Amino acid sequence: MRKFTSVHDLGPLGKALEEAMEIKKDRFADNELGKNKTLLMIFFNSSLRTRLSTQKAAMNLGMNVIVLDVNQGAWKLETERGVIMDGDKAEHLLEAIPVMASYCDIIGVRSFAGLKDKAEDYEERVIEQFIKHSGKPVFSMEAATRHPLQSFADLITIEEYKTKPRPKVVLTWAPHPRALPQAVANSFAEWMNETAYEFVITHPEGYELDPKFVGNARVEYDQRKAFEGADFIYAKNWSAYTGNDYGKVLSTDRDWTVDAEKMALTDNAYFMHCLPVRRNMIVTDDVIESERSLVIPEAANREISAQTVLKRMLHAINNADK
Ligand code: CP
Repeated sequence: MRKFTSVHDLGPLGKALEEAMEIKKDRFADNELGKNKTLLMIFFNSSLRTRLSTQKAAMNLGMNVIVLDVNQGAWKLETERGVIMDGDKAEHLLEAIPVMASYCDIIGVRSFAGLKDKAEDYEERVIEQFIKHSGKPVFSMEAATRHPLQSFADLITIEEYKTKPRPKVVLTWAPHPRALPQAVANSFAEWMNETAYEFVITHPEGYELDPKFVGNARVEYDQRKAFEGADFIYAKNWSAYTGNDYGKVLSTDRDWTVDAEKMALTDNAYFMHCLPVRRNMIVTDDVIESERSLVIPEAANREISAQTVLKRMLHAINNADK
């Protein structure tokens, strides 16, 4: 595998899950695979889990790791071609990418949506330039429209905790004071559409996601109705996607906060969120602290999803070297 930006790069999910579970049984089994290979992780945006879990996964495989925070200590990068660079950006991505690629074997990129220009965001202009110009395997550590390492970890977690072959999984919008990208919600929906689960999305009117990610999900505007009989509640905020409202916060209505009263409508559902989470906006203290909260195991599985992807990329590099 030389690219990982969506579920479609992974092939059959059953096989990927098998590989992930094998890694979980012994995460040091392949600690020679990445010997003398270097992972470069490039962050255009902040991170806690992605940074630590991906670095740990690479170390489990015996890799060296370099981390670059583009906005702290590096030259500010211009990403658009044709711009007259008379502003504060000292270097263009078109030089920076091949230079960075010359120091490493695999590249991870985090570059969020700007939420100003929908076309620019949904064309994934930043990570696509890395794929085109680096000549190295590239994976997403959350791009403008998807967060596949998170969704893979979410899927692993649901598989570990489900008690029926076809659980009901509900993705619910929840309030947040700032405008957030749609990436986590898009990606979660895209991955759930690849499973046999019953999948429902609930949000206030105006927060419809791109239909290409909604897929075959049932969209329910009544959050309480959506929660009925659910086995997993996956909460996430996202800003508006449609029309001129793109990137806007339309509501911070705390009636959409996930609380114990709503969780009581479910079939004793597990609560999930990718973190970081705003307590008592997205979810109440008692729900996130309850024994049905999976936010910590879900975050821990980020190491497993990252290691599964890195292992495949290392195999691709090693096979090409032969
Ligand atoms: N869930 C997630 O990607 O966390 P970070 O933003 O902290 O990496």
